[in-house]
Amino acid sequence: MFLVTRFFVRAAGLVFLTAALSSCNLDGFFTKYGDDPVWVDPNASAAAPGTAEAGGPGKVVYGRICAACHLGSGKGVPGNNIPPLAGSAFVQGDPSVPIRIVLHGFRGPIERAGAHINGQMASWKDQLSDQEIADVLTFVRSSFGNKAPAVTPDEVAAIREATASRFVPFTEGELK
Ligand code: HEC
Repeated sequence: MFLVTRFFVRAAGLVFLTAALSSCNLDGFFTKYGDDPVWVDPNASAAAPGTAEAGGPGKVVYGRICAACHLGSGKGVPGNNIPPLAGSAFVQGDPSVPIRIVLHGFRGPIERAGAHINGQMASWKDQLSDQEIADVLTFVRSSFGNKAPAVTPDEVAAIREATASRFVPFTEGELK
């Protein structure tokens, strides 16, 4: 009997404590999840356009794959053979060019952001669907200050088919 009473007293105490804590505004006292740089908002792709989390599904693909080289800022590392996507004419021009680059890769000497770049980007055709390539290019073409129209999965599918026999990365000369 004594034990049972003690249990109820404790339980009531806990309920009281929880109620008391949740009635105070503790924002700023505890670190919020949103302050954590590695925390990813699970609703990010559903966020309204214009908010920090905007970017749609392409932002997720970009963060998973492209950011490792081209960086979250899209500025790349020109001194280390990684060209910027920010301000890139290839990114913002005829969509068939960036589509071909992501499908089959890109190699050889180029001049970007005042740097001589001679690197190689791998092919992503076996890892990314038409939808994912359309999404990531739509994101890249409208981020980092870039302003170019969206890319559709149909455009990617058509170029995937037209270049199906290709098995080496493109060079700049082939894309111009
Ligand atoms: C492992 C590193 C790496 C990854 C990952 C990578 N790239 Fe690249 N990317 C490069 C390199 C290196 C070049 C330049 C190749 C050369 O020197 O010709 C390049 C070039 C490009 C270009 C041409 C830019 C220009 O102005 O000429 C585009 C577009 C591009 N990448 C898009 C992407 C996208 C989109 C993704 C993600 C799906 C991606 N890249 C992932 C390394 C990478």
